[in-house]
Amino acid sequence: MTVVIPMRDGLDERRLRVAARFIREGELVAFPTETVYGLGGDALNRDAVLKIFKAKGRPADNPLIVHIADFEMLYELAREVPKEAELLAKRFWPGPLTLVLPKAEKVPKETTGGLDSVAVRMPSHEIALALIRESGRPIAAPSANISGKPSPTLAEHVIDDFYGRIACIVDGGETPIGVESTVIDLTSWPPVLLRPGGLPLEEIEKAVGEIEIHPAVRGKEVDLAKAPGMKYRHYSPSADVIVVEGKKERVHEKIRELVSSFRNEGKRVGVMATGGFYEADEFFDLGGSEEEVARNLFKALRELDKRGVDIIIAEGIEERGLGLAVMNRLRKAAGYRILRV
Ligand code: TXA
Ligand code: MG
Repeated sequence: MTVVIPMRDGLDERRLRVAARFIREGELVAFPTETVYGLGGDALNRDAVLKIFKAKGRPADNPLIVHIADFEMLYELAREVPKEAELLAKRFWPGPLTLVLPKAEKVPKETTGGLDSVAVRMPSHEIALALIRESGRPIAAPSANISGKPSPTLAEHVIDDFYGRIACIVDGGETPIGVESTVIDLTSWPPVLLRPGGLPLEEIEKAVGEIEIHPAVRGKEVDLAKAPGMKYRHYSPSADVIVVEGKKERVHEKIRELVSSFRNEGKRVGVMATGGFYEADEFFDLGGSEEEVARNLFKALRELDKRGVDIIIAEGIEERGLGLAVMNRLRKAAGYRILRV
């Protein structure tokens, strides 16, 4: 049985205690963060962590992010906190930034996928923070989707994937950012961007200088030992996805062309784009700004899939600000089927 706790109007301490008790008992609780919903369990409890991998169908060597509510927890989880890490944490936490640091003895290897490092983040969502505080545990939480599917930005998405299979889902409404946190590896120098996300790279570089970008971020085949999350197929709906990139007008024109040729082949075609007019079977408007596109991206992929299209044609956006994270997710969802015009 799954207990769904409604909390769309903001934090309700009394209801939250039910969810916190599940965490302490080693059960799984899906909860909203400012980025996407997380599938949480006690990060220091091996059995709870193993339940997360099992529920998601996640490969055991893909490590989890540990969520904390105060700096004390950081020093408990990390063996060493370099001063640049401290600077970034003080500047951007709570918020959509994850720091990879040398792990302390007490963090189980199950949590870190066998690595000697641990990924830590202090989320800013009030429900997430309250759940960590109330349970008194650091909470390991990957995105609350079945492995390989688009990440969840609504409780409905979590219900679709996990209802009946986890103890509890806290429904806090739509997650405001819509793409996962930015992951920075600080176990070596210079720091390396392992995953672009909700905190733009430009902001991080303003604080600590230049960051190296792991080549896999742009989809190259490389040594993935340090970035295990990047070798798996991700964010994929059941429909085929094609991304069209280039100047906006030309992209819209190309999408129209593709729509008509796929429809002539008898396919049901969905389009997700920043406006424009298309004679597609289904259309999802991604909005105008990078922020809106980020917020709508995963919802659009799931929604078009639900409407039963065979193929999704997606408009690419510029890789600045949140655009870097958007394009990283979109290209993966497309299995790198990219058309440049
Ligand atoms: O916004 C987020 O980060 C969301 C919410 C729930 O906080 N969580 C999330 O978790 O996206 P997940 O498991 O879907 O992605 C975690 C990413 C993966 O790419 C994983 O490989 C990487 O972080 N990661 C975790 N620990 C790591 C480590 N020790 N070294 C390198 N990468 C690590
Ligand atoms: Mg994920």
